[in-house]
Amino acid sequence: MTGRMRIAIDGPAAAGKSTIAKLVAKKLGFTYIDTGAMYRAITYKVLQHAVDLHDEEAIAKLIEKTDIELHPSEHAQQVILDGVEVTDVIRSHEVTSTVSAIAALTSVRKLLVAKQQGLAAHSSVVMDGRDIGTAVLPDAELKVFMTASVEERAQRRFLEEQSRGITTDYETLKREISERDLADSEREISPLKKAEDAIILDTTGKTIEEVTSSIVKYAEERYPR
Ligand code: DC
Repeated sequence: MTGRMRIAIDGPAAAGKSTIAKLVAKKLGFTYIDTGAMYRAITYKVLQHAVDLHDEEAIAKLIEKTDIELHPSEHAQQVILDGVEVTDVIRSHEVTSTVSAIAALTSVRKLLVAKQQGLAAHSSVVMDGRDIGTAVLPDAELKVFMTASVEERAQRRFLEEQSRGITTDYETLKREISERDLADSEREISPLKKAEDAIILDTTGKTIEEVTSSIVKYAEERYPR
């Protein structure tokens, strides 16, 4: 493989995007970029500073000078916010339940989309999020829209949280995932939406290996030579 390739993976919450994207990146030797982690880091910063969530001007000012670094690591990708590691704290319930509101703000999206485009400017990447194929990398060589039934997504999140020692009941997770899908799909700027030229991949009932290898196959077919 010689040329540069950008793979965009979009889809609703808990569809398995980050698990799969990380594995695809590893197999192909590309850089993995978790854009959801960037929205979570910004949300964490807003919550830490106790800024009024409705005061967009104050939020825009607060985040103007924000440094977010993503470092690949064997387990989770490390997230560094203004020099401090926030990898785990950005997965808290407080951040998860606030992130859709923060991600709907124009100033937040402008800042992060520009950062994401910068990260993908010179290297081969696998980037996952909600608007990668439509707004961040509209000319990506491969676009995948990953879905799964809400029941399966809630079940996966349940097992994931359990393994991290968090106990949330399944029905609550299912409700929260549905609410987040709705908020992410109905916002005005860059809503969660399949790009016209994206391949739909329904992961319901499929294993991680199956989904990973089908994306790697698509990538190999489309790789610019
Ligand atoms: O993928 P995730 O659950 O970590 O994403 C957290 C939130 O960030 C999600 O509810 C929507 C938002 N998001 C977004 O608006 N655009 C992206 N490219 C990635 C995430």
